[in-house]
Amino acid sequence: MAQDDQLKKVIGHAKEYGFVFPSSEIYDGLSAAYDYGQLGVELKNNIKSYWWTAMVRMHENIVGLDASIFMHPKTWKASGHTDAFNDPLIDNKDSKKRYRADVLIEDHIGKIEAKVAKDVKKAQKRFGDAFDKAEFLATNGNCLRRQAEIDGINEKFKTAMEAEDLAGVKALIEELGIVCPVSGTRDWTDVRQFNLMFKTELGAVSGDAGLIYLRPETAQGIFVNFLNVQKSGRMRLPFGIAQIGKAFRNEIIARQFIFRMREFEQMEMQFFVAPGDQAKWYAYWKEQRIAWHKALGLGGDAAGTDDLYRFHDHIKLAHYADAASDIEFDFPMGFKELEGVHSRTDFDLKAHEEHSGRKLRFYDPEREESYVPYVVETSIGLDRMFLAVLSSSLREEQLEGGTERTVMSIPAALAPVKVAVLPLLKKDGLPEKAREVLQLLKLNYNVQYDEKDAIGRRYRRQDAIGTPLCITVDHETLTDGAVTVRDRDTMLQERVSIADLAAVVERKVGMATLFS
Ligand code: GAP
Repeated sequence: MAQDDQLKKVIGHAKEYGFVFPSSEIYDGLSAAYDYGQLGVELKNNIKSYWWTAMVRMHENIVGLDASIFMHPKTWKASGHTDAFNDPLIDNKDSKKRYRADVLIEDHIGKIEAKVAKDVKKAQKRFGDAFDKAEFLATNGNCLRRQAEIDGINEKFKTAMEAEDLAGVKALIEELGIVCPVSGTRDWTDVRQFNLMFKTELGAVSGDAGLIYLRPETAQGIFVNFLNVQKSGRMRLPFGIAQIGKAFRNEIIARQFIFRMREFEQMEMQFFVAPGDQAKWYAYWKEQRIAWHKALGLGGDAAGTDDLYRFHDHIKLAHYADAASDIEFDFPMGFKELEGVHSRTDFDLKAHEEHSGRKLRFYDPEREESYVPYVVETSIGLDRMFLAVLSSSLREEQLEGGTERTVMSIPAALAPVKVAVLPLLKKDGLPEKAREVLQLLKLNYNVQYDEKDAIGRRYRRQDAIGTPLCITVDHETLTDGAVTVRDRDTMLQERVSIADLAAVVERKVGMATLFS
């Protein structure tokens, strides 16, 4: 299926079933703002819970925080956001459309990468099991030429950005022959820098005196609380602080559904380490985070899951980092950043020391000295994670007998509705028995009760929202105390005694399944 079609399908399905709605739709919507519906909020909460469990509950030396969105404006001066949180923008004079110059170049590279991927697929088909992807990439003439082309573009872009040579960025766009996707022309304006922070005013003070920003990342709330948490929690290095919360960026172009929004949610963790230890912890967190993703098994089997992710080490490092890598996911639009792992050095804490006049240091009893810790951060966009789950789960399946079904194979532990309880008929005491079963489960899981329509149609409705288990109460239940449990993915059914139901459900849909 074409990439655009797949994304459209996901957007349509998300709206139809109550996952995501356009914001303020009755007023024709607000560009790039979305509301999470009744199923969306459940899925979002489950993703948060999986992240929080993995980061905070499973690590004795990581604690949580919930800092405010508004922060003292000096925070952003110290962090460098006031001066350097810019994107290079460029306009096409014919279409009057505005683009991020770096994204235009990235998309151009993406097209070359897609050609490499096509060659790999072809070769894979030709050589079958004997195919060695690494060897093919290292020896095939076409792939080598294309990789050299990509490396050359990256190098030129990096050099121009590091020298703040915006004319050089424009020259590169012209050299690559990049055209505006709307007008198809190469009539570009100069490249300009654009600061992404949203401004607002505090209280009744207007003008510059009351000027504050909506935080563009949650991380700074953690940095300014480093000492509060370290002292009150008697934390010793290495230790981490984790936070989930909203962030705001006035993106030049917000697009691709919930992939790039102006209001979004981040799940970030800053891990404070001794100077000199950052490379070790950077490698550790890269490995931990990719394992967290792969444990979900998105895309079905293990091989499919592996193909959905790749690391992309940064060429152009942010002003605070000495190493950085993105975990990229194969979204319907191709491989794009899902999460960042950044070695942020001691930049932020040092800068806050300078701007606040307060010491932000740790006394290390082993080294017998005080120092400003180094930081390794993991930062994932919750909305992007939501899109990764949704887009990799939605599929149409051909069934025996020529029928088909729409199914969302959302990892069971993340599914918005865990169990549907369905009385076979709306009479003979079956609804009452089904409600007893519902009662048994609803404290621990989000459970739906449905008695409308034939059982087959009810199964299809649950498949379409990704419910892992359907429990059917039939006449036999009244005598043998057992129910039928149907699995969403295999569609197989098993008879389970009501006495064993809680344990069976937990084994199949509990969060523990992701940590085994
Ligand atoms: N504290 C570091 C930081 O904010 P980032 O790479 O700018 O790093 C981290 O952002 C993550 O936040 C990204 O990997 C992405 O998942 C998410 N993110 C960033 N901008 C976003 C946007 N406009 N819409 C949705 N998610 C976004």
